Amino acid sequence: MAGKLVIFNHPLIHHKLALIRDENTGTKDFRQTVSEIGMLMAYEVTRDLPTKKIRIKTPVDYADAYTLATDVVIIPILRAGLGMVDAITSLIPTAKVGHVGVYRNEETLQPHEYYAKFPSNISSSKVLIVDPMLATGGSVAHTIKLLKDRGVTNISYVGLVGAPEGVKKIQAEHPDVDIYLAALDEKLNEKGYIVPGLGDCGDRLYGTK
Ligand code: PRP
Ligand code: URA
Repeated sequence: MAGKLVIFNHPLIHHKLALIRDENTGTKDFRQTVSEIGMLMAYEVTRDLPTKKIRIKTPVDYADAYTLATDVVIIPILRAGLGMVDAITSLIPTAKVGHVGVYRNEETLQPHEYYAKFPSNISSSKVLIVDPMLATGGSVAHTIKLLKDRGVTNISYVGLVGAPEGVKKIQAEHPDVDIYLAALDEKLNEKGYIVPGLGDCGDRLYGTK
């Protein structure tokens, strides 16, 4: 059975998606809005994290309280995934951050890895892979495999815009991984871009085109 597929249906996320899809939105607003959507999504993505009960003393009495019972590691796929990291770490300040550098070969659309660095506690942690774009799914599938090779068992993927082709690939190759997307678009075009999508996310975040 495939993992959970969550497509967000929330007025604030729709509103912010409209902003980043608009070709007239400049780098500053694009970057800020990608981050804001990441923060809104993080709230829902972390809904099932386990908690442990503790007893604390308030100024008035004793109270049962609940704190996170698992370590959380965030793995942005460079470059575009970096645009969602600060938003999530601001909600989970104890989260550690690993990095995976993958770019797509523009002709073959195959992922090429150039960097990988993970925190030492990764195999026992809840891992959130973040990358705004799920196109062919090659970059995310490659990253999931890297993590599984290191013993990670609890992985979710969080992105902004996905194509059906990418969702299908992750569900087929990694049915244990939950997928969270702000929007599921129509298709890929002949160059492997998501239609209607938002263009090249890394270039729009960093002003490189
Ligand atoms: C983009 C995007 C994803 C990947 C998605 O990165 O940020 O990582 O493409 O495509 P896929 O699902 O077909 O693998 P890109 O390769 O442009 O690298 P960049 O972020 O460094 O620009
Ligand atoms: N990567 C992007 O940044 N945009 C797409 O549409 C596809 C892959």
